[in-house]
Amino acid sequence: MKVEVVAEALGKVKADALVVGVSADDKKLSAVLAALDRQAGGRIASVLAAERFTAKPGVVTHLHVADGFGASRIVLAGIGGRKDSGAEMVRRAAAAGLRRARDLGARTVALEVLGDRLPLRERAHAAVEGAILGTYVFDRYKREKNEKIVETLRVMSPDGKQTREVTEGARRGEIFAQSTWLARDLINAPANDVHPTHVADVAKQVARDGKLKVKILEREDCAKLGMGAFLGVAQGSPEQPPKFIHLTYTPSGKPTKRVAIIGKGITFDSGGLDLKSADGMARMKNDMSGAAAVLGIMQALPKLGAKVEVHGFIAATENMPSGTAFRPGDILRAMNGTTIEIGNTDAEGRLTLADALCYAAKFVEPQEMIDMATLTGACVVALGPLCSGLMASDQRLADRLLAAARTAGERVWQLPLIEEYKEQFKSDVADLNNTGGRNGGAITAGLFLKEFSGGIPWAHFDIAGPAFIDKDSPLGPKGATGVAVRTILTYLTSGK
Ligand code: BES
Ligand code: MN
Ligand code: ZN
Repeated sequence: MKVEVVAEALGKVKADALVVGVSADDKKLSAVLAALDRQAGGRIASVLAAERFTAKPGVVTHLHVADGFGASRIVLAGIGGRKDSGAEMVRRAAAAGLRRARDLGARTVALEVLGDRLPLRERAHAAVEGAILGTYVFDRYKREKNEKIVETLRVMSPDGKQTREVTEGARRGEIFAQSTWLARDLINAPANDVHPTHVADVAKQVARDGKLKVKILEREDCAKLGMGAFLGVAQGSPEQPPKFIHLTYTPSGKPTKRVAIIGKGITFDSGGLDLKSADGMARMKNDMSGAAAVLGIMQALPKLGAKVEVHGFIAATENMPSGTAFRPGDILRAMNGTTIEIGNTDAEGRLTLADALCYAAKFVEPQEMIDMATLTGACVVALGPLCSGLMASDQRLADRLLAAARTAGERVWQLPLIEEYKEQFKSDVADLNNTGGRNGGAITAGLFLKEFSGGIPWAHFDIAGPAFIDKDSPLGPKGATGVAVRTILTYLTSGK
């Protein structure tokens, strides 16, 4: 979707459809709507009245207009009232409005910068982000493609003087949404195409496009570095070699700080020899959602001109059962020398992340490390499909990430890292066991990872629930959501 900002009268703008917001609080039409209504001979007011339009966020209706309008359809999108939270309502209204316009066959859509309670820049960001996220479709593998596509989004600047703010906000919204699309595409594509080599190829492409540094370590390179935990998981896949990926974004000026982001990159999680059930395995192509988020974020950083130095890491591998697979009872040695007894081969994510954390701590020495992982079913049990778990060794980092998530409109809830639970992964024969029993499974997984953070402030998002959802949501269809991309981008560009 091409995005352009125009400063023109809403009634004049050339488009196949014009999307305007309707507030739930106003008894009368807003000034903007009233002017359009006059031009339409009162038909907007009569449609709203006839349908008893509630203006709840996500509720839309439309009318066709003729003479005098630049647009031939007007889509009315509810933006809720004062009690609804600002930016998220704008996103949802824009998403619903754009979907309606698209379904009505519009190729060029003009979008009013919705709402009035936020700074214009933020509203423009939220509106464009919602518009692009809300019209996501994944039809790459279908013979019949979606034929209705919005090609051009014309974002309406209320007047010439404010065009700069609208343009900046719109551009940010476009970048946030496009990088989320990249993540969604990678997650929705099946594991027979998205294998570790493919993830590495996408990383190289992202690096080329954004002038990032990229380094790919092969199985032998990882062996030399002693990444025994990562390679233990990878040894069940002789045919699909693992790839350890390191992307670096360096800002043009002096970086404000150095941050490592790490994504779980299991391109398919069968469980290994501790094989999952058919139901449990069905959607395990999504076990690289953290990795996809890292790629989305790394793609966006140069476009946003971020001032932070960011290192992105992905230890990409499958987790497969085979004659060469690692076994329950095996003892692996992570890069930092810690030995790990395998209690369950299905607790593979923490093994791959352990070596990625060690690598990041050792070779990059970042001030902060943030990992994103579809790590535990326990986190889904605790928080359900719409909320990520956050665990952190540093409360200041956790607080700033929670604030970023709120701004981005992604739900995150912090879980406590209760040190006493570490006894749950004690091993009789090694330093640690990779499983900590059923109780507090999200927390024990977090505690396990913390052992490899080398004392560097570290935070961990367990995105097992929201990474991939069963139902359509306001900002996208069922399937991959691209969760965490927007939260982390908000964090990395917030200047804190
Ligand atoms: N990838 C799964 C976690 C998962 C489960 C993600 C459901 C999304 C939806 C992870 O590798 C896993 O299998 N975890 C086990 C850990 C257990 C064996 C300690 C789990 O959660 O059951
Ligand atoms: Mn697993
Ligand atoms: Zn997994």
